[in-house]
Amino acid sequence: MKTTQSKPVGRPPAFSYLKTSRSPEGRVLHCDQASLTALAEKYGTPLYVYSASTIRARYAEFESAFARHPHTICYSVKANSNLSILKLLASLGSGFDVVSGGELERVLRASKKSAKKVVFSGVGKTAEEMDAAIRAGILMFNLESEEELHLLAERASRLRKTARIAFRVNPDVKAETHPYISTGLREHKFGVPIERARELYALAAEQDYLEPAGVSVHIGSQITDIAPFGETMQRVVALVRQLLADGLNIGYVDAGGGLGITYHGNSNATLRKSVRAYAATLIEQLRDTDLHLLLEPGRSIIAPAGALLTRALYSKMNGNKRFLIVDAAMNDLIRPSLYHAYHEIVPVVQASGRKGASHGSSELAVLDVVGPVCESGDFFAHDRTLPNVAPGDLLAILDAGAYGMSLASNYNTRPRSTELLVDGTRVRQIRRRETFADLIRSEI
Ligand code: LLP
Repeated sequence: MKTTQSKPVGRPPAFSYLKTSRSPEGRVLHCDQASLTALAEKYGTPLYVYSASTIRARYAEFESAFARHPHTICYSVKANSNLSILKLLASLGSGFDVVSGGELERVLRASKKSAKKVVFSGVGKTAEEMDAAIRAGILMFNLESEEELHLLAERASRLRKTARIAFRVNPDVKAETHPYISTGLREHKFGVPIERARELYALAAEQDYLEPAGVSVHIGSQITDIAPFGETMQRVVALVRQLLADGLNIGYVDAGGGLGITYHGNSNATLRKSVRAYAATLIEQLRDTDLHLLLEPGRSIIAPAGALLTRALYSKMNGNKRFLIVDAAMNDLIRPSLYHAYHEIVPVVQASGRKGASHGSSELAVLDVVGPVCESGDFFAHDRTLPNVAPGDLLAILDAGAYGMSLASNYNTRPRSTELLVDGTRVRQIRRRETFADLIRSEI
């Protein structure tokens, strides 16, 4: 099938098409001021590229939207845990939401002094992880069961250090998102039922080395309708009022993360509106309280700041179906395979339409973009309309900054990709490509 090309637009200002003297054949996608064709040539593909200026800008949007209420942003490390990115966020004043001893260790490596702004979430913290976090002096543990409360009480008293705690309550609020990333309903494994919370807080208050200090909640991820966040916060604030009446000194509410982005358009352009609406909804519920608000955004800070570059290897027809085989695969970015997630894919070189242009001719084709991994689930797009890409051409998979590299694996013994952090014209390699030796290092 052939139609005329509508121009791909990228994700300005993180990823924009610029004309350069070196690209007579068309406009080239840049990350900040760095040409992606040049970066792919120098560092190889698959390649993750992030825009530092965009991370800063998105963090600043959160800060400004919440400025009128006392708050701390605790960036959710699981979205992208590269040390250089954590360092960048720490330098902006961010705290961190961690869910494992490993993530805590990353934060401490990136910025020791950020420990006091760390919240530790997750349903299955081990005794060792608790000890490490107690020693580090984190801000708060978000507990998810009564048994966890008992274990933390024991570890804290053994270390003779008081641990501040919140219970992550399950508010039983429905939010529209993929079932794998929805968490706020009774049928999910997360949190404790909100109706049991007072009893659990009373139990916590009896422990010598535990200090009930907050209430936390997280209803899911990639939520684009703001209303469920408000409904949730209303329930949380009602609970806090009861706990205060019970004589507890609750100073924090942790709203979790989950604010969605538009994967179908430029979310950098719409961020302000969405974060402002989100902030207004949360703050509305918190007015008339002295509660310090903790936020755990992951995706909304980092997703549109990153792209995965991949080179086309082959194209083929199987019957009527056209396939484009690229050098990145589900081990590099698993979101399409795992959640049927949509990621926009654009050619790095935007053809000028001139005859004989070597990249991305102006004709369009409908095809499946797939990787080399031996699974039918290894795809980036089904029936996608793309410019007629030829083997050797570069593509950018957009909005891949969150849950891309952090979910990458070595499946099929594929080394994990290089990561670059671009800041204006400056390019820093923040992870080198794995070698075969890296892959077998821990095998005996
Ligand atoms: N806080 C808690 C307790 C969480 O469980 C999560 C995400 C976040 C914060 C950050 O949520 P965000 O602002 O990024 O939506 N791999 C999936 C997303 C899994 C989210 C897990 N929890 C994906 O690629 O869509």
